[in-house]
Amino acid sequence: MTFFAFSLLAIVFTSPVSSSPSAPPVTLLKQQCWHEYPFTTSLLQSSPYVSEADIITPLRSSTFANIPTVLISSARNEATSEHAPWSYPPVCTTILPHLSTQLCVYTNTSFSNGRGISIFTTPSIARDFANLPAFQDPAALLAKDVNTNSGVWSAEKIEGKGVGLVAKRNLEFGDRVTAYTPALIAVMEGELSTAEREKYWRIAIDQLPKETGEMYLGLATVFGIKSVVVQDVVKANSFQLDVGGATHLAVYPETSRMNHACSPNAQYNIDPTLLTHFVHATRPIEKGEEITISYTSPLDFTDARQHHLKENFFFTCSCSRCNAKDQTDKVFRQMQIYQNILNGWDKPSKATPEMAENLIDLYRKEGLEGFLDIPYGYAALAYNAVGNTKVAEKYAHAAKAAILMKDGQWTNNLKIWNKLLENPKDHWSYRYRVR
Ligand SMILES: *[C@@H]1O[C@H](CO)[C@@H](O)[C@H](O)[C@H]1NC(C)=O
Repeated sequence: MTFFAFSLLAIVFTSPVSSSPSAPPVTLLKQQCWHEYPFTTSLLQSSPYVSEADIITPLRSSTFANIPTVLISSARNEATSEHAPWSYPPVCTTILPHLSTQLCVYTNTSFSNGRGISIFTTPSIARDFANLPAFQDPAALLAKDVNTNSGVWSAEKIEGKGVGLVAKRNLEFGDRVTAYTPALIAVMEGELSTAEREKYWRIAIDQLPKETGEMYLGLATVFGIKSVVVQDVVKANSFQLDVGGATHLAVYPETSRMNHACSPNAQYNIDPTLLTHFVHATRPIEKGEEITISYTSPLDFTDARQHHLKENFFFTCSCSRCNAKDQTDKVFRQMQIYQNILNGWDKPSKATPEMAENLIDLYRKEGLEGFLDIPYGYAALAYNAVGNTKVAEKYAHAAKAAILMKDGQWTNNLKIWNKLLENPKDHWSYRYRVR
C-alpha cells in the first residue's frame, strides 16, 4: 500500500545576531518542504480522512475566508465552449452554509493529450486553476515531458509491500523517475456528508477519460469499502496541494505506487503552476532495485517517524533506520549537535569546515542523499566563514542542486545560496569566524 505523508523539516539557517555593526542582521530563512508561490503552494500530506466513520475532516472555514484573486496577468484564453476550459457543465452542490459558496466538479477530458483531470472545488478557485499555466499553456507540460512514461520504472509486486516501483535500468543522481499531473484534485472540506462527498467525487472520476478513471480506481485503498472507494483511494494516495488559498488533496496515480523508505533513494517536488509532481533519483539506483521516497521526515527521531507512519499510514516501519532505533537515534543526535554548532554564530565557535564535512558524511551514511541541501548549506557557510570562497561556492552550488530537487524553485532557502553565490566575499559569512 502506498501513502504520502506530510514532511516538514524545521531546519533554520541562522545568521549572526547583529551585535557588532560589521554583522548586519540577515533574514532568517526556513528550511521547508513546501513551496512559496503567490497563490499556490504544495506539500505532501496524508489524507486527513482517518476512518470510514470519521472520513469527514473538521471544517477549515478560515482557509476559505479570504481567497486571493488570480494573480496571473495573461488574459484567459477565449472560451472555446460555454464552460471552457471544462468539458462538461460543472456539477454543483447547493451553496454550503459555512463556505458560503458551492462546490462543483470540473473536468477537462482533453487535458494533457487526453489524460484528463477532474477538480472538485469552489467556482472561484476553479477559475484560479483554469488560469494556471497547466491549462493556459499546454506546451509547458509537453516541454517538460510531463505525463510521458520515462521508461525507467515498472510497477511490480513487492514482497510484503503490495505494489512498488522498480528501476528498469541503472539510475544516477538527478535522473528523473516520474512527472505526472493528478487525476483528481479535491478541496478539503468538512461540510459534506461522506455519502454526499462520495457522490460528487464519483462524478469527478466517472467524467475522466476511461483509462485515467480506471487507473484511479485500481489504486490501493485503506479500508477496502466499495461504497466510499473514491475517498478511500484519496485516503491512501493523496498529496496536499494548496491552490487559491485552500487546501486540496491531489491523487497522482502512477507516482502513488512508490513505497516508503527511511533512507529513500528518490525525492519529489511539486510544481504548483503545472500541478505536476516530479520524482528524481537522489543516489545511484541499480536496475531491479525498488525506487522509494519518504512519507515522513527522515530527519526525526525513530519514535516520531514511527508514530507519524502509524497514525497517518497505518503501518509499522521496518526499514533499517527504524529497526536499528538506538543506532539511528544516536547518529541523529550527533547530526543535531553538529548542526547546532554550525548554525551558531556567536564567537568563539567550535564550528569548522571539517565538522561540516563530517555532517555530510553522516547524512550519506544514513542514506539521506535527498536531504543533503542541509549539510551542503552548512558546509558552504563554514568554508566561507574561514575565507575559503572556492569550496564555499562548490557547496553552495551543491546545496542549490539538492534543494531544487527536493523543494522546487519556490523554496526560500534557494535565495540564501543564490545570494552567497553572487559574491561570496560580500556575503555576511565571509571570514566571519576568523575575524
Ligand atoms: C482543456 O484543457 C486544455 C489544456 O490542456 C485546453 O486546450 C482545452 O481547450 C480544454 N478543454 C475545454 C473543453 O475547454
